Amino acid sequence: MIKYFLISAVPSVLVLASIIWLVVALFRRSASRKYAIGLIVVEILILGVLYNQWFVSKDYPRNYLSERASAAIVLAETATAKDFYIGAAVVNASNPLYGELVPSAYNSITPENATKFRQLLVNGKIGEYDFTKADAIVDFAVSKDVRVRGHTLVWGKFSGKTYPKELDDRIASAEDPAAELRQIMRDHITVTLNHFRGRIETWDVVNEPMSMDGPYLDKNIYLNTLGKDYIAEAFRIAHEVDPTLELYLNEQFGNYTGEGVEVFFDLLKWLKEADVPIHGVGIQAHSIFKTHNLVEFRQFVNRITELGLHFEVTEFDARIRLFDEFEDPYQAQADYMAEYAKVCIENPHCAGFTFWGLSDKSTWFNVIPPFSRMLPNDPLLFDVNSHPKPAYYRILEALESRKVRWAEL
Ligand code: XIL
Repeated sequence: MIKYFLISAVPSVLVLASIIWLVVALFRRSASRKYAIGLIVVEILILGVLYNQWFVSKDYPRNYLSERASAAIVLAETATAKDFYIGAAVVNASNPLYGELVPSAYNSITPENATKFRQLLVNGKIGEYDFTKADAIVDFAVSKDVRVRGHTLVWGKFSGKTYPKELDDRIASAEDPAAELRQIMRDHITVTLNHFRGRIETWDVVNEPMSMDGPYLDKNIYLNTLGKDYIAEAFRIAHEVDPTLELYLNEQFGNYTGEGVEVFFDLLKWLKEADVPIHGVGIQAHSIFKTHNLVEFRQFVNRITELGLHFEVTEFDARIRLFDEFEDPYQAQADYMAEYAKVCIENPHCAGFTFWGLSDKSTWFNVIPPFSRMLPNDPLLFDVNSHPKPAYYRILEALESRKVRWAEL
């Protein structure tokens, strides 16, 4: 995001500054107007290149359409036979893609938004729940024997979007803010887990505890009010409500090494040492501006399992524009996706791999600016017409050659 900002906003500000310079120079009849004009021309050229790079829609060859006949989709069946989950995020039960691709392509789903704190509430009113939308998603999956991952009980980023704005107001005006937040957190976790009892057995208890701005914990309402104990407490409450649940800490990583990663591992160690009932780490892998280093990724997951934790890749997508320079971008995307997925598929402690959307037609990138203008995004397994992309076949092969079975740590 910072890179995008630097690339698009900074040159625009520079152009604006040069125009102001030109106007002043013209007004004063100063000779420097020549330089100002020269600068503006250069800047506009640079902006043009950047604009072309980022915003002009591109069309990549779809060689895969001619190469494969439309075979039956057997990804989910293969995953189940190999004791593994291949999942997709689902926004809405009424999306026709849901019934089209589940249960043949995916044997696991994650409600993309419907089980978030804010989305479960009527008009964001704490304590007033409406489970209709989430139930429709969950019940369809359950009826098809498809696993559901719950996402997510505690997430302190994006007030009013992922958690209700009312939470900020309640904590700001509470006599004892810590007690108030503890109670709200306990009530929400209890109501939600009881509601989905027997239907959702794996939950992202805490989402994105790390800051997006630096190597420290995110300074959100939970951390500011309760310190890092909020993370331990959320897991303890969830375990208390239903001790049979698999409880995950879910986080997005741009890199798998560096200071931020060390802070994250310190957090995991602290949770384990305090005997907090955490069972796994959910790894979000949204490849937006760059792909991940796979050597580092392997080392990273080993560090997780060495702590006695499982892991899952919970949110995967890789924009096709990252593979721009390849002759066949869809093939290059497939190679990358398969190599990334294999780190999980070949590991007995990785429960599953979830794509953040059912197909390229239903990816969050297509609705969230600026990516909604940087087309195509095409970051998933199936294309906009639900044709399996090369990545589908590569992941299928990786599953077929999976030698390990899910193993307790
Ligand atoms: C995203 C959804 O895909 C969007 O539809 C929504 O507008 C914002 O949230 N990390 C997460 C997910 O844990 O919940 C986010 O999902 C993507 C980033």
